[in-house]
Amino acid sequence: MEKVLIIGAGGQIGTELTARLREIKGADNVYAADIHENCPKNLEGGPYVQLNALDREQVRSFIIGNEIRQVYLLAALLSATAEKNPDFAWRLNMEGLFTILDLAKEGHLSKIFWPSSIAVFGPTTPRDNTPQHTIMEPTTVYGISKQAGERWCEYYANKFNVDVRSIRYPGLISYTSLPGGGTTDYAVDIFYQAKMNGKYTSFLSRESRLPMMYMEDAIRGTIELMEAPKDQIKIRSSYNLGALSFTPEELANEIKKHIPDFTIDYEPDFRQAIADSWPASIDDSTARNDWGWKNKYDLSRMVEVMLLNINVELLNI
Ligand code: SER
Repeated sequence: MEKVLIIGAGGQIGTELTARLREIKGADNVYAADIHENCPKNLEGGPYVQLNALDREQVRSFIIGNEIRQVYLLAALLSATAEKNPDFAWRLNMEGLFTILDLAKEGHLSKIFWPSSIAVFGPTTPRDNTPQHTIMEPTTVYGISKQAGERWCEYYANKFNVDVRSIRYPGLISYTSLPGGGTTDYAVDIFYQAKMNGKYTSFLSRESRLPMMYMEDAIRGTIELMEAPKDQIKIRSSYNLGALSFTPEELANEIKKHIPDFTIDYEPDFRQAIADSWPASIDDSTARNDWGWKNKYDLSRMVEVMLLNINVELLNI
């Protein structure tokens, strides 16, 4: 069994991906890494190491010294936070990627997962059913870093035969850990406020339609992509993955079916401009054809599961 390292394991994706990979591969084979000195509670089921994704030598010596063969590199600043700290966002989102791509090029790693995002698209991209290959002129720091990262992944795959695999995640909705710093985070915040206060003020306008996905689908898709035979992975930049597409108003209406008194109002802030530059829905036929991607959760099932499972105490941790 190849040893796996998840860098940025304490984040919204990492927490659930680590747990699932430990179930599949055995806890001892899956190392969680994050910037915190002490192991976060939800990563306690297996080995944990404090790693700084920007410390190339620290990351290299850990991977080589522990004979890690696969890396999931999840440490990044998301769209809204990156706009507030562009220099650091660019460094964090790019430098760690080169560290890992170079380790693979040198033969230390057999496989890499690196997440991209719908943020690689921009205002000149066709908004509906955005194709796999299309105009990409991102206008956010986050989007620029993800697009550059995609180009480098493909370059390393073509030139050095690096087996790097990637997904352009839409907004991800989950209840086990909180998202941080994204434009799509309203679609998670709304559940906590609905449960605690029965009302929510959305930072995106009522008609802002964005691509979204329930986390269980995202984790399953990620692992299916990584486990697929190498020759099925024809896209080495990043795969479009579609699932849900809804507006704040449509999400609120679905929540009202469970909490009839729930109300929503709208106070768009700087994140509105980011949302306006992104697709409304995604054409994922390439992923479906190449390696069999298929989402399972629709809007009503996602809302049901979220309302059943969110724990408002997470907000106080
Ligand atoms: N959820 C991310 C964000 O909003 C999109 O990749 O930044």
